[in-house]
Amino acid sequence: MPTHEQKPIHGDDEQFDPTHMIEMCAAQNSTGGAGGKFPIVLWGANNFSHLLPPGQWLVWDKACGAGPHSSFADTEFAWTTRKTPRSIFHHMWMGLLRGEDSTNTSKRAHPSQKPVELMLWCIETARIGLGKTILDPYMGSGSTGVAAVRTGRKFIGVEIDREYFDIACKRMSDEQAQFKMFSEEELGDQLMIANAELRGRPLADGPA
Ligand SMILES: C[S@@+](CC[C@H](N)C(=O)[O-])C[C@H]1O[C@@H](n2cnc3c(N)ncnc32)[C@H](O)[C@@H]1O
Repeated sequence: MPTHEQKPIHGDDEQFDPTHMIEMCAAQNSTGGAGGKFPIVLWGANNFSHLLPPGQWLVWDKACGAGPHSSFADTEFAWTTRKTPRSIFHHMWMGLLRGEDSTNTSKRAHPSQKPVELMLWCIETARIGLGKTILDPYMGSGSTGVAAVRTGRKFIGVEIDREYFDIACKRMSDEQAQFKMFSEEELGDQLMIANAELRGRPLADGPA
């Protein structure tokens, strides 16, 4: 039985074409006004930049300025339809050198697993409102879903590989179980705190 690291990822040997996703969101944009109703954040988009309309680039500095380490790249790039003054996220994630992944997974659940912290930053950078729905059509281990649950967004995930689908569901239900440990009043505070932290604002003493 191959490990996660050895198992080929579905679609990785093919050129990805994002046209269907962009067209779907552009159709929404025509009624959603400037800036778009459904913003897109597409990681790995530098591999198909020739298929993308003009947009903005986001950079994940995976080495926190220390540069590449052995064969691991020190950056990953995402393309987004959202205009934003923020473009760089620093979070160590190179081989065994990993910053916090706040789901406390002792080992990687997926070869392309993104840290939940990166997905929290994306939700904030793309300005996804509380209670809105996030779609990840290539869910993998479900890091986007964990970030959505944690910050009070709804989530739809699609994953073709049954093993990764089950891992993602487990990570999201573990995250939900964390929240159930708080009373409803405390949960409200918790969500506010998560969002205040993401916005870089000082935390208030209590709910507004
Ligand atoms: C780059 S990985 C996503 C990793 C994810 N961001 C994470 O943090 O774990 C892409 C995932 O898309 C899945 N996939 C590929 N083609 C798919 C398809 N047509 N429909 C649904 N999932 C697909 C693969 O099985 C793989 O797990």
